[in-house]
Amino acid sequence: MTQLHRVLYCSRNLIPGAPEAVAAHIRSILATSRRNNARDGITGGLLFSEGCFAQVLEGPLDALESAFERIQCDERHSDVTVLQSGPIATRDFPDWSMAFAGPDAAGPIAGERIDTAFAGQSGGGDKLLDMLKAVIARESEWLASVPEPARA
Ligand SMILES: Cc1cc2nc3c(=O)[nH]c(=O)nc-3n(C[C@H](O)[C@H](O)[C@H](O)COP(=O)(O)O)c2cc1C
Repeated sequence: MTQLHRVLYCSRNLIPGAPEAVAAHIRSILATSRRNNARDGITGGLLFSEGCFAQVLEGPLDALESAFERIQCDERHSDVTVLQSGPIATRDFPDWSMAFAGPDAAGPIAGERIDTAFAGQSGGGDKLLDMLKAVIARESEWLASVPEPARA
């Protein structure tokens, strides 16, 4: 069986505009990610909170490397900071999912934790990874709860 790897990183949002406009862009990132990650055997999760992204990607090394290369070059975010990268025994995220933590949900807390991760105080990303697991488990229904006027 192919060895599984994981990459965990955080980054800062560069998408300008009101929250609705940012959400529309994120929706498009999610659609692309879903398509590509299903094709490439990648699972994981993406969290957006308080102007920061945190993402975990799991899958075969070659697929992960190509995906992460594309993600790093993406001009919709900056300061891509890798917190963890290495082999794993099993997937923690069996599906590809996305969590959005707005101000009414885990937003400020999640945003604060991502900021701490930038500062290198996050225990090698373990706390951020735990938070991603918890938040994604709770909020993966976010997309279902947001009206979708223009799904292509
Ligand atoms: C925060 C963030 C997370 C992203 N996550 C993924 C991802 O998990 N998988 C992916 O294929 N693209 C992801 N993208 C998009 C890539 O940067 C890139 O636009 C995309 O892979 C290009 O795919 P395409 O060649 O099929 O258009 C992400 C972009 C951003 C800004």
